[in-house]
Amino acid sequence: MQLTELLARLANGEPLSGVGLAEQAGVTRAAIWKQVEALRARGVPIESRGSAGYQLPWALQMLDSTRIRASLPDAVVDSLGGLEVHWELDSTSSDLQRRAGEVPDLSFVLAESQTAGRGRRGRPWLSPPGLNIYLSCLKRFESGFAALSGLSLAVGVVVLRALDELGIGGAGLKWPNDILVHGGDGFGGKLGGILVELSGEYQGPCAAIIGIGLNLRLTPALHEQAGQPASDLAALTAGMPPDRNRMVAALIKSLVEGLRQFEREGFPAFADDYARYDLLRDQPLRVSGRSGEFDGVGAGVDARGALQVRTADANLRRIDSADVTVRRT
Ligand code: BTN
Repeated sequence: MQLTELLARLANGEPLSGVGLAEQAGVTRAAIWKQVEALRARGVPIESRGSAGYQLPWALQMLDSTRIRASLPDAVVDSLGGLEVHWELDSTSSDLQRRAGEVPDLSFVLAESQTAGRGRRGRPWLSPPGLNIYLSCLKRFESGFAALSGLSLAVGVVVLRALDELGIGGAGLKWPNDILVHGGDGFGGKLGGILVELSGEYQGPCAAIIGIGLNLRLTPALHEQAGQPASDLAALTAGMPPDRNRMVAALIKSLVEGLRQFEREGFPAFADDYARYDLLRDQPLRVSGRSGEFDGVGAGVDARGALQVRTADANLRRIDSADVTVRRT
């Protein structure tokens, strides 16, 4: 039995006996056990229930391109260059990058799991199957790289708009493009991340590969492996995260509309929404970049998406790239 089929059978959250699974698949119980172990090794929390067999702690939905399309308005479906769902890829963004010359504009690639998911600054992105969302989109632009400043911040707004549309509140943006949960006294953990990679001609035309990772369900083991405070949509929805296919559809709709808007109007069209979701505004910050470290207070972003930080001498410094942490006072 393939891993994808085993996970699909367990997806409704009911227990399934090893004997039953083995009979249906015409294999031995040991072969089923081996596949269960393979899914566990990838991070799926399959529990053993004695003679009742194997069970997931909750139901999940396998990604399904037909269901995703069915949840999209016709106008969005008509604009899609492609929509692929894979069981496993090294990385949805690397996959699109390898085919960037061939695939149409607004092509979307999703995978149930990634073996080499990439975060910003070369960090790995944990990508167990069935639990979260790993989505990449290719968008072509006639303009050059300069017109795309602020694109990754705009994508953060696009993700928050998709969450809003599903009635999920409680998330915000940490510059440049972390999606975080509001904590009681500041930030909760990281809910998702955005990786925008540009290719093509500096003066245009060019293409952006936009990768989005969004946590729906993290397990205790994944929290530990994340190496930083992490959170998931289950935490924002009293343990009832949205159907994964509906969440993906909301992201795709918001991306198609948002990327068109960005193409026409640039980052200024997103500035008000960014300000609404900005978790760094008025926070005491420590900024560490190539030119050293300094402290200040978050003062929003400028029209290009650069972070503004007010220093103790009342200067406003603009930062294009740096690590920013909130100082505990
Ligand atoms: C970050 O470091 O915060 C950015 C994480 C981006 C992860 C997504 S998951 C889909 C796409 N494929 C990847 O390999 N990375 C991005």
